[in-house]
Amino acid sequence: MNEPHVDAAEQIVTTIATRRSYLTLTDDAPSDAAIAELVQACTSVADHKALRPWRIVTLRGEARERFGAAVARHQYGDVASLTKPDEIKDAAKLAAKPLRAPLLIGIVHRAARHPSVPEWEQIATAAGVGHLLSLALFAQGWGVVWRTGPFVNMPGVAEVHGLNSNERLLGWLYVGGIDPSDAKPRNRKIDATQLITRLT
Ligand SMILES: Cc1cc2nc3c(=O)[nH]c(=O)nc-3n(C[C@H](O)[C@H](O)[C@H](O)COP(=O)(O)O)c2cc1C
Repeated sequence: MNEPHVDAAEQIVTTIATRRSYLTLTDDAPSDAAIAELVQACTSVADHKALRPWRIVTLRGEARERFGAAVARHQYGDVASLTKPDEIKDAAKLAAKPLRAPLLIGIVHRAARHPSVPEWEQIATAAGVGHLLSLALFAQGWGVVWRTGPFVNMPGVAEVHGLNSNERLLGWLYVGGIDPSDAKPRNRKIDATQLITRLT
C-alpha cells in the first residue's frame, strides 16, 4: 500500500460527504479552460478495456435556447402556430428549462462494441464521469445539479447536441454559481449501515 496522503484523503472524503445539489444557480460559470482541466482529471474514471465510452457536450448562451426550442417542438410541434394561451405559456416554460443555469454539461454515453464489455459497464463508466465531474466542480465552489427527464430521449435534442447514432445522453450537469441565500450545508442524512451487507 502506498503511503496515504492524510490531509488530501480527509479533504476528498469530506468533499464527497458534504456534496449537495444546487437547484438555483447564479450566472457565474466556470470557463472552458477550467472545464477542460476538470474533464482531464475525470479521465481517471474506471474504464473496462479503456474504451472511453463517453464524452461531454457543453452548452452555453444560445445553445441552451436551441436545446429548449427542441424540447418545446417535441412536445408541441410548431410552437409559433399555437393559439391556446395555456399551451403558449406551457411551451415557453418548457423552452426556458435549460436556461436555469449558465452552463449545461451533457454527459454522453458513446456505445462501443466489445466482446467482453457489455453496455451497462460502459454506462457505469460514463455515469462515473458525471459523478466525478460534479464532485470536482463542487470542490471548486460551483453549484451543480444533475438533471435528466424525458429530454434525453428526444431526437431533436440529440440533434442539437450533435449526437451520433451510438450516443445517448445520460442527462446534464446544470452548473453555475452558488446563490448566497442557498449556501446551506447538506441536510439529507442517510444511514449507510442499512446499505452495507457484511459477509465473512
Ligand atoms: C442520472 C441522474 C439523473 C437525475 N435527474 C434528475 C432530474 O431530472 N430532476 C431532478 O430533480 N433530479 C434529478 N436527479 C437528482 C438530483 O441530481 C439530486 O441528486 C437530487 O435532487 C438530490 O439532491 P442531492 O444531490 O443534494 O442529494 C438526477 C440524478 C442523477 C444521478
